[in-house]
Amino acid sequence: MTALKTATASKRALITGITGQDGSYLADLLVEKGYDVHGMVRRTSSVSTQRIEHLLAWNQPKITLHTGDLGDTTSIQRVLKESQPHEIYHLGAQSHVHHSFTQPLYTADVVALGTLRLLEAAVQLAKTQEVRFYNAASSEMFGDATLVPQNEATPFNPRSPYACAKVFAYHQTINHREAYGLFASNGILFNHESPRRGEQFVTRKITLAAARIKLGLQEKLELGNLDAQRDWGYAWDYVNAMWLMLQQKSPGDYVVATNETHTVREFLDETFRLLDLDPEKHVKINQSLFRPSEVPLLKGDYSKAEKDLGWKPKTTFTQLVKLMVEADLDLARKEAAGG
Ligand code: NAP
Ligand code: GDD
Repeated sequence: MTALKTATASKRALITGITGQDGSYLADLLVEKGYDVHGMVRRTSSVSTQRIEHLLAWNQPKITLHTGDLGDTTSIQRVLKESQPHEIYHLGAQSHVHHSFTQPLYTADVVALGTLRLLEAAVQLAKTQEVRFYNAASSEMFGDATLVPQNEATPFNPRSPYACAKVFAYHQTINHREAYGLFASNGILFNHESPRRGEQFVTRKITLAAARIKLGLQEKLELGNLDAQRDWGYAWDYVNAMWLMLQQKSPGDYVVATNETHTVREFLDETFRLLDLDPEKHVKINQSLFRPSEVPLLKGDYSKAEKDLGWKPKTTFTQLVKLMVEADLDLARKEAAGG
């Protein structure tokens, strides 16, 4: 699948996971900055490009898509040959922690080996041109964290197949930096959300359900562990940090977070408060939504990113909840109107 671009730009970027939450915001950012943006998209039986539809207008597409899969080495090599990127933003993943318990081998293949496949192909490309590599590492790697807040020196204690695979990918990224001199950086991003967040993640599940409940489109919302604490930021702020990491003189690993933590219950209460709804009336706890092992508390210390990249979060917890609620209320209104 190749949508040809008319304009040419001096710097080419390749985004794996371009159809996801972060990939779509990063594509917006890089297009805005004048990059020639390429994305790797896997074959799906139904359309997966809703989040980047606005960049794909048939008469003037702003990005170029290439079919490939992180499970398939030859497709990765082909996509790199076709796109010849100066910057690779590796965001593609089976990114759902709970699903990783039911699909552990698939998750390990895509997240751990998929990253290794891409790194190996990047090293080959780096023999002929400049290439910089961003790896989407995760605060899930801290797992049952021994220290609060977590920073770049905090030991990893992964609690899921997803987190174990991310630890592997993190170390492979550093290894390719040290062994082959590849400019490769890890962004250790804490949870970040937005109106484009997948509907199976807890924040979006809550804001979408609450908006639908408000309009009488839904009665109940089933949730699992409300006591887990997360450091939630806004995805748009976070893709800026990814870009900044690849603009530095040297590669490195950075925590990107807000240094605040809130329980799932707090997110739920704030959402329902904004809509003047009572969670007691609508929320039901479902044991099957609890995980076999849980990450109890994440809180990130982003001082290294602030010092080296000049980055800090711009959106507060309450602003984040509000912008997600407003977006989902708009969606629910369209649904109610039969749209
Ligand atoms: P997301 O919305 O779930 O997007 C994941 C992307 O990966 C989608 O484009 C998906 O394609 C693609 N993908 C899945 N399996 C693939 C495969 N086998 N081959 C190629 N592409 C594949 O995730 P996100 O929230 O944007 O997160 C982006 C990255 O950051 C992920 O690596 C995630 O693990 C990591 N991360 C996220 C957070 C967060 O809070 N959001 C925090 C830390 C790290 P389809 O559209 O076809 O499914
Ligand atoms: N998804 C989900 N659904 N989570 C629920 C639910 C529910 O119904 N009820 C409670 N939770 C709790 C989970 O047990 C977890 O403690 C917390 O809500 C957040 O879950 P998710 O939104 O699924 O995110 P996550 O923290 O597991 O993982 C996300 O953040 C990681 C970074 O820390 C994902 O985006 C990962 O890809 C990312 O690496």
